[in-house]
Amino acid sequence: MTRTQSTADVSVVGLGRVGLPLALSLADRGLEVLGIDGDPARLEAVREGRMPFAETGAQELLDRVRAGGRMSLCERVADGARARHIVITLGTPSFSHIEIDMRDIRSALDDLLGVLAQGHCLILRSTIAPGTTDFVAGYLAKHRGFQIGEEVFVAHAPERIAAGRFLEEIDTLPCIIGGVGARSGEVAAELFNVFRAPVVQTSPVQAELAKIWTNILRYTNFALPNLLMMDCERHGANVFEVIDLINRDYPRGGIALPGLTAGTCLRKDFTFSEERSPAPGMLLAVSRVNETVPLFLVEGIKRRLGELAHRKVAVLGVAFKADTDDERDSLAHKLIRLLERELADVAVHDPRVTTPTMSFEEAVDGADVVVVATNHSEFCTARSLAAIAERAGASCLIVDPWNCWGAAQVFAYSSEITALVASG
Ligand SMILES: NC(=O)c1ccc[n+]([C@@H]2O[C@H](COP(=O)([O-])OP(=O)(O)OC[C@H]3O[C@@H](n4cnc5c(N)ncnc54)[C@H](O)[C@@H]3O)[C@@H](O)[C@H]2O)c1
Repeated sequence: MTRTQSTADVSVVGLGRVGLPLALSLADRGLEVLGIDGDPARLEAVREGRMPFAETGAQELLDRVRAGGRMSLCERVADGARARHIVITLGTPSFSHIEIDMRDIRSALDDLLGVLAQGHCLILRSTIAPGTTDFVAGYLAKHRGFQIGEEVFVAHAPERIAAGRFLEEIDTLPCIIGGVGARSGEVAAELFNVFRAPVVQTSPVQAELAKIWTNILRYTNFALPNLLMMDCERHGANVFEVIDLINRDYPRGGIALPGLTAGTCLRKDFTFSEERSPAPGMLLAVSRVNETVPLFLVEGIKRRLGELAHRKVAVLGVAFKADTDDERDSLAHKLIRLLERELADVAVHDPRVTTPTMSFEEAVDGADVVVVATNHSEFCTARSLAAIAERAGASCLIVDPWNCWGAAQVFAYSSEITALVASG
């Protein structure tokens, strides 16, 4: 077996929302980085110095890295073997029948299989189901006969950053590493030691579980106030007042606020536990609660206004969470589809996503209903509330599960919200 002939320090396979900021950060720390992506448009954008998506501080970082000349780009995954460390940051969606979809990872693994040599360290940065790191190690051992942990190294180093905070969190969030065999963890840590964050060594399956349960905890935490919001509607209670009663001066934890909870991680990562759960059901129920919020909002509108056919409904925001341009797995899309199925005239505005939407003014002009689907900071201002009141009128129903303006009403008419905000 030949030893690795390195022409780069690290390859990053998949220059998406996780891979590109990571590749840039590694280059910024002085490493020679090879960035690999199968999408020519993405490579072209990076080559031309354009960030293909919004991430705080990433455009300046890209400018700096281009000037430093420490990052090269290519399409072929097999070229990843030019570096000792190969980090996989490919997407890991789930199939609709609750099973991890590993096709991108399997395909990259097969591309690399013939070119891996002694000394290579394969690091899975993607979110993966428990057992996947051991599967990858077993696959390399089976097909190439490597001693994993001694000749070739395989580790899971899950990404736990929140979108928009990558550059801050890469240096602060503890970096969990689960290495296979004797030395994989240590070899993977040689790469991540370029960041200031502490490295925490564990087993592969514990690293996998820690990552998916980080997200399951968040997903569940948000399902509780969402369920409470539905319960409050049934009882004629105000969810924000009940939450205040729960949390006020209570020393044993608190409940989060309601909202449209989804996004590319939370919506699917629970399935990586659920696919093999011996006690299935709880996390499916959590998912059902969060997935029901758009329907709950539509039903709540209909209870107040009657049929929605030919009524104008403005949906503000299609991104999956505030102040991002990422609309993958956003519940706003589900909300829009449900409203369209009611034959409503749906008008959509989002100032951040790349998909074209109407202007704010066009969307809210003459609207019977305005739904804040994403609490972008642009929406949560006195100015935008005043613009809605002026353009849609006092009788426009405002639906604000995020409590964007602090009026503490999920459903209220624009005159009420304006009065509450003015008095509050
Ligand atoms: N987005 C987040 O905030 C976030 C946070 C933590 C963890 N994660 C996890 O990180 C992983 C990556 O997520 P992401 O949001 O960056 O995904 P992404 O879809 O934004 O990026 C994947 C990239 O891989 C490329 N690609 C796909 N198949 C390829 C192939 N065979 N060869 C080369 N390139 C290929 C795509 O063109 C794309 O640019 C997922 O497992 C995700 O669950 C994401």
